[in-house]
This record gives sequence, C-alpha cells and structure tokens, in this order.
Amino acid sequence: MNWRDYWNQDTPIYAGERHKLLHYRLVANDIAGLIPSPKARVLDYGCGEALFADRVAARCGHLYLCDAAPLVRDRLRERLGGNSKVTILATEELSDLEDASLDLIVVNSLLQYLSLDELRTVLEIWRGKLKADGKLVIADVVPPDVSPVTDAKALLSFAWKGGFLKSAMLGLARTALSDYRKIRDEIGLSHYSEAEMIEILRDAGFAPERVERNLGHNQARMTFAARPVFPTSL
Ligand SMILES: C[S@@+](CC[C@H](N)C(=O)[O-])C[C@H]1O[C@@H](n2cnc3c(N)ncnc32)[C@H](O)[C@@H]1O
Repeated sequence: MNWRDYWNQDTPIYAGERHKLLHYRLVANDIAGLIPSPKARVLDYGCGEALFADRVAARCGHLYLCDAAPLVRDRLRERLGGNSKVTILATEELSDLEDASLDLIVVNSLLQYLSLDELRTVLEIWRGKLKADGKLVIADVVPPDVSPVTDAKALLSFAWKGGFLKSAMLGLARTALSDYRKIRDEIGLSHYSEAEMIEILRDAGFAPERVERNLGHNQARMTFAARPVFPTSL
C-alpha cells in the first residue's frame, strides 16, 4: 500500500467525529482568511473531506476541490454535488482547468505524502494554473526535526481545548498500531526544512516566503506562500 491508497479508505487519523469536525472547521476558516476577493477562483488541492467547504465556497467566486482518493471525491460529491460554486476534480482532471485562471491554490497537509519528484511535477502544474498575481499557499509542511511525539503533543493540546482528549488518546494508540504506522515505517514521510522549501519553490518559478502562522492546529509545522515569477521580472 502507498500513501495514495492509504487515503482511499476510512483512517484512524481522526480520533472521532468531533476531532474531524474541529479540524476541518479550523482549516476552512484559515483558507477563507486567505481568499483575496469574493470573486476569487480558489483550488484546495489534496482537500480531503473538506467538511466546511460550503463556507469557503460562500466566500469566493468558485471553489475547486481536488483529491487523489476516489472515496474522498465520492463523499464530497454526495455533500456538495448540488453546490454550483463547487467543482470536484480528480488529480488528472486538473489539466482541464484553464491556464492562468486561479487566484489562490491552497495545499494543506499533503507534502509529507508526496515524493520530491511528485512535488516538483505538481508545482509546475499549479504554477501554470495560477494567474500572474495569484498565490500558492502550502501548509502543514513537516520539518525534519519534528517527531511523531511533537505531532502527538500538538494533537493532545488541540484535543484538550476541543473537548476530545480521551478519544484523541485512544486515536493515537490506534494510529500507532495501524497501517499508517506501517507505511510511515516502510515508505516514510517527506520532510523539508524552511531553506529546502524556499529553494524548491524558487526552482519551480515562485517567489516564496515562510508565513509565521501555520494553517490548522499544529504550529510545529510550516506554511509557505509563493507567487509565480515570470522571466521578465526575474
Ligand atoms: C492529510 S489529508 C489532508 C486533507 C486536507 N487538506 C486537510 O487539511 O485536512 C491528505 C489528503 O491528500 C490526498 N492525497 C494524497 N496524495 C495525493 C496526491 N498525490 N494528489 C492529490 N491528493 C492527494 C489524500 O487523499 C487525502 O485526502
């Protein structure tokens, strides 16, 4: 099993419904805060179940939700199929989007599941789809020095504030015994330092910067904002 297959099923990553709801609400609020105008065309790439996507869609002109997992897309269609401001896309359908048509692309908590080659490939696609003044925001990037223990502490703190501490503790135990742990041990997660991310984004034709606050609850991880750079402005 690889990471793509892993996400095409119900996973123990969320400790329960409350965790999932609070997580997706926080991420949706953070994405909504990035939307530059009510007309903006926004892509949430690797969106997962995006439980509050309707709120994000209400704040922009059009929301594209793209995820590799067919199961995730089926669930999105069930919930959001009737929302004319939302389009659900498989990764291979991204090329159908008009070039230079997006104002904002948000990628939250995906990079750890991509190889560096996959990341470079998709950066090229994202760059092509962004308007000249568009913005790419890549969030929840795991630095090399962040261990599963740091992630667990961040989750427990989120759970304490969110009132799901007991289920979070059980969830951590379930994850430790699950396929997630097995695949992490076999394939690993991709980690990047701040300097590596800046270099990768520059190589891909972006002007990047680290943003102080990470999207979501885990402030040990990093967010980067990047604008496409064109040869004339190099
Ligand atoms: C950790 S979840 C993050 C979901 C959401 N962005 C969030 O912040 O909660 C990772 C998601 O990325 C999707 N994914 C995995 N590999 C992908 C790829 N190569 N391209 C697009 N999506 C991918 C998975 O199906 C899963 O829904």
